[in-house]
Amino acid sequence: MSSKLDLLNSKKAEALMGGGEKRIESQHGKGKLTARERVELLMDEGSFEEIGMLAQHRSGNFGLERQKFLGDGVITGFGKVNGRLVYVFAQDFTVFGGSLAEIHAKKIVRIMDLSLQNGAPLIGLNDSGGARIQEGVVSLGGYADIFFKNTIASGVVPQISAIMGPCAGGAVYSPALTDFIYMVQDSSFMFVTGPNVVKTVTHEEVTSEELGGASTHSEKSGVAHFSVANDLACINDIKKLLQYVPQNCEEESPQYAYEATDEICLDLNSIIPENPNTPYDMKEVINHLVDKDSFYEVQDAYAENIVCGFAFLGGKSIGVVANQPAFLAGVLDNNASNKAGRFVRFCDSFNIPLLVLEDVPGFLPGTDQEWGGIIKNGAKLLYAFCEATVPRITVITRKAY
Ligand code: HXC
Repeated sequence: MSSKLDLLNSKKAEALMGGGEKRIESQHGKGKLTARERVELLMDEGSFEEIGMLAQHRSGNFGLERQKFLGDGVITGFGKVNGRLVYVFAQDFTVFGGSLAEIHAKKIVRIMDLSLQNGAPLIGLNDSGGARIQEGVVSLGGYADIFFKNTIASGVVPQISAIMGPCAGGAVYSPALTDFIYMVQDSSFMFVTGPNVVKTVTHEEVTSEELGGASTHSEKSGVAHFSVANDLACINDIKKLLQYVPQNCEEESPQYAYEATDEICLDLNSIIPENPNTPYDMKEVINHLVDKDSFYEVQDAYAENIVCGFAFLGGKSIGVVANQPAFLAGVLDNNASNKAGRFVRFCDSFNIPLLVLEDVPGFLPGTDQEWGGIIKNGAKLLYAFCEATVPRITVITRKAY
């Protein structure tokens, strides 16, 4: 018995080393943490229970039978974040570049199933070279299984993705099917086809960073919801976001301690100018209305003419949607409609009441907007508000044309 236990312990020790010391050093050299370090940072101390730690691939293609790593390039399990249950997978770039193949995908799907069965958020820490080339089409099937689970889980448990390294090809679509995407500046990128393919097909020359870095996706495309400075900031911000959301669609978000005050905020009388054409910063209004320092903005650098974010009101989570007169006069356009529509649907799915602050000159006129589909995009925003059944309070701060 003791020899079996020794074997188990030595295998566990081997699994902890992922792809080995040299690759771990290389990961650190790029300013990145390892998958295991990320999970440790995320979870409350001692709460993480790993599943599938000793799983290995079973492929014999292209010499794979001689290259086996315990865990198959992804760490999966569950644990607590600030005392609340979450499920997590973290791709390990030190093993086959975190690439996704049959067993790797099965481990992720298992965690997704458990997150659904037990009604707790799912967090994916992505760092992967995409489909594992050696396993070919089996790898692609693994993606299909994950996409399917993402859609089944959508609106049932909160799904949060962090992009903490490469994310290319079909790999981008699982994060895109989740509720929120974090991207780490300078070390992560997302694109369907990389710079070399772009150059071959369209003759455009572009770097990975320009094509799909954190700033591109948080400012230009709107694919990312949060751009963060490094791995540590990313993990801390995920923990922060979790405070605002419930465990699942049948629960409410937590109630936090709050000290009520009778104080009337007189500053609100002077923020909004009387002249309807004079801009002001709607975020100042939001910050005066909600609990102190509680506003957490989503997509702060994209479609800045509409402000979306979470906050606490009396210690309870709310979603804030507000026109921003300080940017493009707070006009509604294609990007703003998509951004706010998606945010409203998330809040509605997860029982988060909405506070709407309206100061809007209307939809932006012009061919650019019409050809960009303002009718269908604007309709998405209207649809989201019409179908929402969470409590909604709208304050028209100045105008609603
Ligand atoms: C198998 C892979 C791999 C992959 C990387 N590796 N990507 N192994 N399958 N897809 C391995 C490398 O061989 C290397 O192994 C280790 O991971 C680290 O890779 P490097 O290239 O040394 O790292 P780096 O220079 O940082 O470059 C990272 C990278 C690059 C940009 C991700 O590796 C790359 O371009 N990989 C291929 C990307 C790709 O074409 N993926 C398929 C996308 S198509 P050793 O042993 O040296 O450590 C796709 C379709 C899905 O995903 C469709 C779903 C519908």
